[in-house]
Amino acid sequence: MPNEWWRDAVIYQVYPRSFADSDGDGMGDLPGITGRLPHLKQLGIDAVWLSPFYPSPQHDAGYDVADYRSVDPRFGYLGDADKLVTEAHHLGLKFIVDLVPNHTSSEHAWFQAALAASPGSPERERYIFRDGRGDQPPNSWTSMFGGSAWERVPDGQWYLHLFDVSQPDLNWGNPEVRAEFTGILRFWLDRGVDGFRVDVAHGLIKEATLAEWTQPSAILGGLDPVGPRPPMWDQDGVHEIYQEWRAVLNEYEPARILVAEAWVAPADRLARYVRPDEMHQAFNFEYLEAPWRAADLRKVISSTLAANDSVGAPTTWVLSNHDVVRHASRLGYPAGTRRMNGIGADDPQPDAGLGLRRARAATLQMLALPGSVYLYQGEELGLPEHTTMPDEVREDPAWKRSGHTERGRDGCRVPIPWEADAPSYGFGPSDASWLPQPATWAEFALDRQAGVPGSTWELYRRALSLRNEHGLGRGTLTWQETSSDVLAFRNGDVLVLSNLGKSLVALPAGARVLLTSEPLDADGRLPGDVTVWAVV
Ligand code: NOJ
Repeated sequence: MPNEWWRDAVIYQVYPRSFADSDGDGMGDLPGITGRLPHLKQLGIDAVWLSPFYPSPQHDAGYDVADYRSVDPRFGYLGDADKLVTEAHHLGLKFIVDLVPNHTSSEHAWFQAALAASPGSPERERYIFRDGRGDQPPNSWTSMFGGSAWERVPDGQWYLHLFDVSQPDLNWGNPEVRAEFTGILRFWLDRGVDGFRVDVAHGLIKEATLAEWTQPSAILGGLDPVGPRPPMWDQDGVHEIYQEWRAVLNEYEPARILVAEAWVAPADRLARYVRPDEMHQAFNFEYLEAPWRAADLRKVISSTLAANDSVGAPTTWVLSNHDVVRHASRLGYPAGTRRMNGIGADDPQPDAGLGLRRARAATLQMLALPGSVYLYQGEELGLPEHTTMPDEVREDPAWKRSGHTERGRDGCRVPIPWEADAPSYGFGPSDASWLPQPATWAEFALDRQAGVPGSTWELYRRALSLRNEHGLGRGTLTWQETSSDVLAFRNGDVLVLSNLGKSLVALPAGARVLLTSEPLDADGRLPGDVTVWAVV
């Protein structure tokens, strides 16, 4: 299946606001990304996924789309998007864009028309408008960002928004909505993109009666593999939408892909999104959320591999993205502490050294697993979360909507450092940066790490190159029996040992070390929080 490039692809997430700023306004842009693509080629990735760059009032950093067929002037023009895709292809990289089908921006022409129209009109039928219960909203659903999921309009009706008030949910029971989105797919496919990351893929269909649900929502999905299924998530009706989209993608050559952002558990329930006639991949958030303990990791790796195998889909692996605390900081808390988003200066701070050490060990673990991997910009530099950001500069709508109880996701979205001694660390030509960069970030800059043995950047490069050479993405995992604090598996000719305990672990006799996340001890033993790849 040489055409099925996604099965073992390493896909790198670019967050356009924070990758590279070509014009010095403090906001990243498409020409900035194009200029830095050679960096990604050097890193050794296979594909780029670009978070939304469409016209948007940016109330949720672009996940509030006002026009699905254009580019926000903050980021450039349609021609810049075309250039970016062409240049990526020229470098041999695939290019995936973000599709946001659950909701539009309230500034989208459809929603403006719905507001101007009357209850029961075809314009309102594109969204989920309902009458209230007296003065109360139609039901007690809450928004993922806090507060009610309903907003009242002047004529008394209410509309549903599972996210910000500026993100009205579309009515996917309406054929006009479905037709519009297949049109949007074709628009970008015809421009040459290689696929779509589908935002909130588990949310498009709501239970028909909008049944009561009083439990609070976590900021993002929150995986609850045991409780009853909430009426707004993972309804069976979503699958027919993805079957229709798959049929559209199948018309294109070479292969294009769909990847589901679906906070769904357990793994066999999530695997329904990647059946042969639906999506190609789904993010493995159970893996991202697993505590730093060998038994937990082994369990989630086994169950997600088994679930995906049962439908013939590759398993994906991810440790960081723009919605969660970067893993170099998340892992700096005691194992078992749940720190997914929102750390402020007055919160307990992570142990930075431990966090980075574990992050490097976790990354080596992940890059040796069979399947496809998602990396988030900056993790290849070992970037931590900004955990002391002043509250006044926070932009995540969760901060305001939660009544300042959820700090939100700004800490993982800070513009990344390229050059230690340049203004904005080389993010752009000026010192402007839409979120402040910590004063300590010079040490993480790319130019301080490139060519430096042992740097996180060089660790990623070497690991990606070895992953390729040993065919790890297409391999098969076999667990090795070992002590309970060690995660040990084989993939092809590579033995992977990850020591999550404190005692030193001896390598098998004759092991030839390929790569370690930190040096072995003087006797060649594996210290705690270190991963090794070896050939035995
Ligand atoms: C998931 C996206 O990753 C997140 O950033 C966004 O806030 C929500 N979906 C709503 O679109």
